[in-house]
Amino acid sequence: MRLLVTGGAGFIGSAVVRLAVARGHEVINLDALTYAACLDNVASVADSAAYTFVRADIRDRAALDRVFAEQAPDAVMHLAAESHVDRSIDGPGTFIETNITGTYNMLEAARKYWLEQGKPERFRFHHISTDEVFGSLPADPSVKFTEETPYDPRSPYSASKASSDHLVRAWHETYGLPTVLTNCSNNYGPYHFPEKLIPVIILNALAGQPLPIYGDGSNIRDWLYVEDHAAALLLVVEKGELGRSYNIGGENERSNLELVQTLCAILDRKRPKATGSYADQITFVTDRPGHDARYAIDPGRIRAELGWRPSVTVEEGLEKTVDWYLANEPWWRALQDRQGVGERLGVGT
Ligand SMILES: NC(=O)c1ccc[n+]([C@@H]2O[C@H](COP(=O)([O-])OP(=O)(O)OC[C@H]3O[C@@H](n4cnc5c(N)ncnc54)[C@H](O)[C@@H]3O)[C@@H](O)[C@H]2O)c1
Repeated sequence: MRLLVTGGAGFIGSAVVRLAVARGHEVINLDALTYAACLDNVASVADSAAYTFVRADIRDRAALDRVFAEQAPDAVMHLAAESHVDRSIDGPGTFIETNITGTYNMLEAARKYWLEQGKPERFRFHHISTDEVFGSLPADPSVKFTEETPYDPRSPYSASKASSDHLVRAWHETYGLPTVLTNCSNNYGPYHFPEKLIPVIILNALAGQPLPIYGDGSNIRDWLYVEDHAAALLLVVEKGELGRSYNIGGENERSNLELVQTLCAILDRKRPKATGSYADQITFVTDRPGHDARYAIDPGRIRAELGWRPSVTVEEGLEKTVDWYLANEPWWRALQDRQGVGERLGVGT
């Protein structure tokens, strides 16, 4: 397939780009190169004849029309977004513009192209979203997010993603645009931007700095290795049922405190400190306003209908992730100078 991937210079988008090229797809990577982007993430495929990079902003409708006309994709995988909850608390405007208006622009540009092409049978618009649109779960482990869970977003980030999901559904129902939608749990793995929890913990640990845990560390997230997410996304864009949504998750619930303790134990083995444990650096800090208590995905639909399974457990994935950060210091050092990285963001007013 000839795939137009938006946000392909980001964390998850770059994993999709690398995997898609490795599987023989042609990829057009459309990205505005915001603070969160890094073209080194796709350096391994940059010289491939199957790969094209286009710098464009999804807030610019005319640019999107040009890209569709020139690149003639078979399918769209739309990942470009502002993605950091803490930044959405400090500056929600960009989240509204990129995540909502940008998705509207993508839908309209895709619809125009699809109509001009005579509604090709195989065209797909795959919108990549988050489980955060469903809100916060109670502690009861039997309760999980399914595709039927009502939307209840609680941060500017999740509200903007929920809005974009609703637009995608409306474009399918109203205009017949062939859409598929996925909602995934927290990702981790190589090339994770160093403002997100797992890289922050690894890099602060190595630097001898405090390991910040919001609140009491009891907030639970359901962690999925990014390459398993990328594989699920390629499966959905190829085989997903039109108009349907699929929840994707690794069934790996961990409290933030447990997660950080696991990372410290891995680092204690791989890069022991002169004295003590990295866990000695754990520091509890003021909680994020509106911090959702628990996310957990029931991936029953994608497992039963499309046969998807994650390839690694969270223990294996965290080992691989720590190894990757230990081996790729130039990559993360270069990103630590970017605006806001390393600062406490999103404490509210
Ligand atoms: N990170 C997670 O755990 C997670 C989980 C589920 C879903 N998602 C969703 O997956 C997608 C990718 O997430 P990520 O963590 O890789 O994000 P990221 O912040 O690492 O990357 C986002 C990419 O989008 C690009 N971008 C941002 N605004 C743009 C614009 N206006 N025009 C064009 N490009 C723009 C950036 O330059 C960057 O390369 C997002 O839609 C996010 O909501 C993320």
